[in-house]
Amino acid sequence: MCGIVGYIGEKTAAPILINALKKLEYRGYDSAGIAVFNKDELKVVKCKGRLAALEEKLGNEVVDGNIGIGHTRWATHGEPNDINSHPHISNSGSIAVVHNGIIENYMKLKKFLEAKGYVFASDTDTEVIAHLIEYHYKGDLVKAVTESINELEGSYALGVICRDCSDQFVAARKDSPLIIGLGQGENFIASDIPAILEHTRDIYILEDKEIAAISRNNVRIYNNYGAEVKKEVMHVNWDVASAEKSGFEHFMLKEIFEEPKVLKNTINPRIKEDNVVLDGININVDELNSIEKIFIVACGTAYHAGVVGKYIIEKLAKIPVEVDLASEFRYRDPLIGNRNLVIIISQSGETIDTLFALREAKKRGAKILSIVNVVGSSIARESDNVLYTWAGPEIAVASTKAYNTQLAALYLIALDFASKKGTIDANTHSKLMEELKQLPDSIEKILQEKKDIQKFASQHYNAKSIFYIGRGLDYALSMEGSLKLKEISYIHSEAYAGGELKHGTIALIEDGTLVVCSMTQDALFEKMISNIKEVKARGAVVMVITQERNKPELQKVADMVITIPDVDSLVAPIAAITPMQLFAYYVAVHKGCDVDKPRNLAKSVTVE
Ligand code: G6P
Repeated sequence: MCGIVGYIGEKTAAPILINALKKLEYRGYDSAGIAVFNKDELKVVKCKGRLAALEEKLGNEVVDGNIGIGHTRWATHGEPNDINSHPHISNSGSIAVVHNGIIENYMKLKKFLEAKGYVFASDTDTEVIAHLIEYHYKGDLVKAVTESINELEGSYALGVICRDCSDQFVAARKDSPLIIGLGQGENFIASDIPAILEHTRDIYILEDKEIAAISRNNVRIYNNYGAEVKKEVMHVNWDVASAEKSGFEHFMLKEIFEEPKVLKNTINPRIKEDNVVLDGININVDELNSIEKIFIVACGTAYHAGVVGKYIIEKLAKIPVEVDLASEFRYRDPLIGNRNLVIIISQSGETIDTLFALREAKKRGAKILSIVNVVGSSIARESDNVLYTWAGPEIAVASTKAYNTQLAALYLIALDFASKKGTIDANTHSKLMEELKQLPDSIEKILQEKKDIQKFASQHYNAKSIFYIGRGLDYALSMEGSLKLKEISYIHSEAYAGGELKHGTIALIEDGTLVVCSMTQDALFEKMISNIKEVKARGAVVMVITQERNKPELQKVADMVITIPDVDSLVAPIAAITPMQLFAYYVAVHKGCDVDKPRNLAKSVTVE
């Protein structure tokens, strides 16, 4: 993963690089570093630990200069330590490189360079890039980077500065994201837009195997054959505040509180006169009728949204749906062709397993519809149709508001497909649309009631194991609730289908084990009551999440009943996930965990 940044302009580079890296720490945070060019010197300061450690180190050094690159790391090759931190420098000290991605042929290149006399200091794959560029450098940095990337296999976003070039730095990418921020008398590179938002909203998106020569007043972009490429400037509409904490203790809490607003943004513009009108989607009735099966492919939270999507699309549009983890799909030789639609879900639009799964499906002739949050991301650009979730920047590593909007997008798709195919009656259609429109208000109410959840979390943050159970859509929901908890609180957790409990997991229930039950599906209510009784009989403590209307009945059997407003069972997951997110959040806060940056994780996973 890792985050990279670069700056050239008239200001002092170091503080700008550090501030930009702070916005990218979600991508990795086990070490950090910068390289700044000043007069004739290339100064590198780097160390293990969070950015705060780097800032402390920088406090003791003078790092002037107005051209530089920076990096925040999520280790792949080589443990997090000072030496393996980026930037990496070439043997003569003339080239410094920051890198996000994995160089797959680095062993071969290392042997080649060692034979030429290069000595390696670190255990990283990145160091070969610094030496390789130096090897190719004959006075033209762009040429040296181009020749080097033509020898690299794997993925990379690169920032390169050179001691001989005081007026420019160079960037390049393949399969790892990189944008160029265009300022007045200054220019930037970054792995993601929030890093440069306070300076500019005009950006170029670098495509695979493009190389950019970035100077104060000019950005030139070339392909890997050396031909210049003309780019469209993209204007970003987000405001800076949406990438700031705005008074909340953590990004995660702020993002949960944004759910009503972002759901409105995702749903309302797409409902016109009681019809779903999907911008960016061009699939007509004939095409829909020819689809034999839909595949939904994603990772992590987005995969869990896909599991809900399967239930909804099958129920409403009557098309069979298979849900796949992207990392499995791409290697399992899927039976897929031009009579299949593939729905790709990704908040970042850059997850490499998901991107490669998309390419695999496309190669086999399937049409791609993606549900993506980041405009201009790789997945968005490579899809035939894109439905954007207007969740705004999501900074906390654990995804929250993006999930709610992914669900909303899937419901809109299901309703659109169903009405085009004639598999839904007018009443159900307008009732569901009404329900969708009401969701932001329902979530607003849930957020006002957060105190009960907070209190219950304060009583259970020491739990060793917490189980989540549900049936039907509630099972899909439980998977996401359980993932949220383990991601940020490090408490072991499993999600189980209520009916499956008796086939194994019930053996783990003992006195005091907390079981979280989602009970939003009217048709499965009685079955879940039986499951509650089964676990209670073995000593479990039960927390239920359900609609207000079920509270009196459930208070008789559960230890804690958290309610959501009386929404229809079919749309309930979009609202019922919010109390689960809050529960995970408060448990982690009580445990003293670093909520926004949980250990070992990163938000944008651009390595396999
Ligand atoms: C990482 C993040 C998760 C996210 C998953 C997929 O694991 O920590 O929060 O769900 O990647 O990311 P995507 O950007 O493709 O939705």
